[in-house]
Amino acid sequence: MSEPTLYDLPIRPRRNRRSAGIRALVRETRLSPEQLIAPLFVTHLDKPVSVASMPGIARLPIPELVARARSLTALGVPAVALFPAIEPELKDEHASEATNDGGLLMRAVRALKAALPELVVITDVAMDPYSSDGHDGRVIDGRIDNDATLPILERMAVAQARAGADWVAPSDMMDGRVGAIRGALDDAGFADVGILAYAAKYASAFYGPFRDALDSAPRAGDKKTYQMDPANGREAVREAALDELEGADVAMVKPALPYLDVIAKVREALSIPVAAYQVSGEYAMIEAVAANGWMGRDALILETLVSIRRAGADMVLTYHAQRAAELVG
Ligand code: PBG
Repeated sequence: MSEPTLYDLPIRPRRNRRSAGIRALVRETRLSPEQLIAPLFVTHLDKPVSVASMPGIARLPIPELVARARSLTALGVPAVALFPAIEPELKDEHASEATNDGGLLMRAVRALKAALPELVVITDVAMDPYSSDGHDGRVIDGRIDNDATLPILERMAVAQARAGADWVAPSDMMDGRVGAIRGALDDAGFADVGILAYAAKYASAFYGPFRDALDSAPRAGDKKTYQMDPANGREAVREAALDELEGADVAMVKPALPYLDVIAKVREALSIPVAAYQVSGEYAMIEAVAANGWMGRDALILETLVSIRRAGADMVLTYHAQRAAELVG
């Protein structure tokens, strides 16, 4: 008599994969439209302007923006994150246009909230789309000045809240900005406006297509003195824990797919909800391989999104929100 081997055990993991019904019952991670946030680009022009490095994505005039948000809502997607393409002549070193109550972003927020009061409208707080330097913070003598940036971010967040934003989303990675923005919102009477903090935002090559979309690439240097080093994971937990302490309502990790370990660590360490941003370059990669017929678009959309959810993200910002919602809705 020989010893029992692994093959003698009565255990057959494949039994749980026998049929679609069984697979559905044992599935550990669900993906549903209500976990998605659609990032949308806005233009002041009266026609959509397609983004070359993001096939299928365009900067939208406000009426088209409202129509797009309406169809997302109908599919069960509860939220949009807005990014305005600012005219070059309106950009300056103080990002003045970012606090203009009559500016493109504020008009877009008001139009969306008027047409779709239940839609969760998220606005980005960072100087880069409005700055002639293309940096997220104030550039003084060639350096990004953290503390000179904070009052600008505070004014920007308050202006966005005044326009009707539900969540303001600081994406600038300045130290102390979540606490500063929380204080400014509360002082201005916007205690109900939430903060979705880009808590662990990496200095990533995957933002390239986004900077094309907004023409917002830095005019000089890179963003490595404020965005995180892709080599660091523990530091992401430190950043996210600080944001939670400063009053963030949701902590975001960005990009998503190359940073699944970071999403898992941050989910484990924090008690607030965690968001992940499947960024422009992640979208572009899927579109490029799909256009070549090298891999299938829909399967990639579902697999990447479920993987981001499995890693621990409670919600995902994705340029594929509409297609994903159609697929799982
Ligand atoms: C602005 C901002 C960026 C993104 C979101 N907000 C670009 C950057 O930091 O350079 C990137 C989003 C994407 O690539 O989809 N601070």
